[in-house]
Amino acid sequence: MKVAVIGAGEMGRGIALVFASSKFEVALEDAFPQALEKAKAYIEENLKRSVEKGNIKKGEDQEILGRIKFTSSLEEAVKGVDIVVEAVPEIVNLKQEIFEKLDKLTPENVILATNTSNIKISEISKNVNHKERVIGMHFFNPANRMKLVEVIKSEYTSDEIFNKTFEISMQIGKVPVKVLKDSPGFIVNRINAPDMLFFCKIIDMGIAKPEEVDAFAKEQGLPMGPYELMDFVGLDVVIHSMDYYAETISPEYRECNFVRELVNKGFLGKKTGKGIYDWSSGRANIPKAEPTDKVSLMDLFSIEINEAIKLIEEKVAVPDDIETAVKLGLNRPFGPISVAKSSTTAEIKKNLEDLASRFKVKVFEPTESIKNGKMKELLNIKSFQEESKEKPKEAQKSIGTVSEAKAVRRYETLYIEKMENYVAKLVLNRPKHNLINTDLLNDLEAAIKELWEDKEIRVVIITGSNENFSAGAELSQFIPGMFDFVEYSRKGERVFKLLQEIPKVVIAEIKKYALGGGFEMALSCDIRVSTPDAQIGFPEVTLGLIPAWSGSQRLAKLIGMSRAADLILTGRKFTGKEAYEMGIVTHVYDNDKVDSETIKLAESISLGTSPIAVALAKRLINRGSEISYDNGLEMESLAAGILYGTDDLKEGISAMLQKRKPEFQGK
Ligand SMILES: NC(=O)c1ccc[n+]([C@@H]2O[C@H](COP(=O)([O-])OP(=O)(O)OC[C@H]3O[C@@H](n4cnc5c(N)ncnc54)[C@H](O)[C@@H]3O)[C@@H](O)[C@H]2O)c1
Repeated sequence: MKVAVIGAGEMGRGIALVFASSKFEVALEDAFPQALEKAKAYIEENLKRSVEKGNIKKGEDQEILGRIKFTSSLEEAVKGVDIVVEAVPEIVNLKQEIFEKLDKLTPENVILATNTSNIKISEISKNVNHKERVIGMHFFNPANRMKLVEVIKSEYTSDEIFNKTFEISMQIGKVPVKVLKDSPGFIVNRINAPDMLFFCKIIDMGIAKPEEVDAFAKEQGLPMGPYELMDFVGLDVVIHSMDYYAETISPEYRECNFVRELVNKGFLGKKTGKGIYDWSSGRANIPKAEPTDKVSLMDLFSIEINEAIKLIEEKVAVPDDIETAVKLGLNRPFGPISVAKSSTTAEIKKNLEDLASRFKVKVFEPTESIKNGKMKELLNIKSFQEESKEKPKEAQKSIGTVSEAKAVRRYETLYIEKMENYVAKLVLNRPKHNLINTDLLNDLEAAIKELWEDKEIRVVIITGSNENFSAGAELSQFIPGMFDFVEYSRKGERVFKLLQEIPKVVIAEIKKYALGGGFEMALSCDIRVSTPDAQIGFPEVTLGLIPAWSGSQRLAKLIGMSRAADLILTGRKFTGKEAYEMGIVTHVYDNDKVDSETIKLAESISLGTSPIAVALAKRLINRGSEISYDNGLEMESLAAGILYGTDDLKEGISAMLQKRKPEFQGK
């Protein structure tokens, strides 16, 4: 596939790199040759660092770079493309002009996407004849690292273009969310907008100093405080957005005097060396200060929940997508939806009423559903529209096929690749080493149930994206109390037990890390394979925890109490090779062969064995370890009796006599 990226600035260069890394041919166009030179240097530097860090192999950097053509001719750039992504400055007229040209230069089936942060997509497509192909594809900065892409539908965008853009976003390794309406700020910027107003007011009203609030934010674990972040992004950009929200959401957004004055004086933040803070050294020189007690996290959560609920009321996005977008777009461990789920509506309502009266800001007033006590109902919405009546529930998660060879079923945190020969790959797909959280457990539960019913699948390989299995549970997840933690533990145990129960063979393909919860997931599978240098283990006790998703029980059953005690009580990590020696994994494959060898192993089972015999044998092995020997034997003879009546047994025996490969039907 081929993409043209228009505008080679801060965003365009990163977007070009993302596409090229996913094997797209890329034309990166900019009206200014210096911008192209800078973009090329940035991309080269970035690729060099990726090689140094071992993220890509040596040589791959040149291949990726070779896929990018740098050009200052729009006509050249768009020749033969499937999709165009525009990333020129946030100026309506400029974007309209470019889209008018793009409409004339490209056939009507080409997707025309804009990376605008704020402007309505329908406004950008004003002069376009085929408005149905214009769509928002909002990347986050830095585009090559941030996983989120907001895919935005205008009132004209066709479903086909919307779905295709969503699919392409996944193909380039992003996590897309659906913005179903062309609404100011889409999801992340919209939820952030009242936060910005709040921080403007804090200063304008003299409630606290920037450094006191930033100290508070850092105390809460944020990498940057809100004012440092404003300086970093650019105060002109902040004011530009606030003015836009003043026009489109509420005039109150114009009230940001302190920042506006700095902009008027030309103090724009990091880029001018001075903003709220002094940046002359290249870093913010933040005066030392005590964290303020005038701001509470619950104030901010309440404001964000209010805005999230407005987005649901306006049918802009569903709760799950809002949660994902805020987590990935703002680098947070959890978003407003999970906080809303663990708070009472009355508590949020009261906070918002207090904030609205304290700051005299109507934007903070609780929205209708919070006022009427209906917040919780909205949090459970999975889809708007009566489309759910037409489509079965599961099908809504499906995005169809990404290539002819494989069908892909997509969940938020994982995907299932249905392959040939009765094999499916269940791929964990979360940023930062596929850490396991509630979302992943929920998706895993749904995915296992889906595979359970699928007669076309006999063997499931569980692995992770980014050459990694899973580094364990996401420890920063918001869990309100002790009892919630008990339930969280039970949830993991329940979901992992499904892996043991599913009547198919499940293979864990361990790469890079299988730690804590990741190791527990692998232990719940029937067979484990690993790369020799994978890092495996239960580090829980070194954190003051225990393996609490069944690991404390499963490991001893597998390798005996003595060895399990050594591994669990020391928390030490061991390699895939050592795991093989201990009998935890049964095959060790080199890193470059592990994917293909695991598929071969899976196919040797899926094509060479009767699925009924395998399912019954699996049950006997698992149950046999829990019941008496005599009861085990009883189960065994009954299972053998069941098999005696199957077509698979007849097929197995006649294939052996005829010296051919059996073709088992699972009957
Ligand atoms: N910077 C961010 O954090 C961020 C994040 C998400 C979205 N966005 C959006 O992405 C878009 C681009 O932002 P940016 O930060 O990359 O801006 P930028 O100023 O860094 O880059 C814009 C590039 O467009 C080029 N350009 C200007 N006119 C052009 C034309 N007629 N044809 C081709 N190229 C032209 C410029 O030379 C420049 O290199 C904006 O719409 C912005 O709102 C930015």
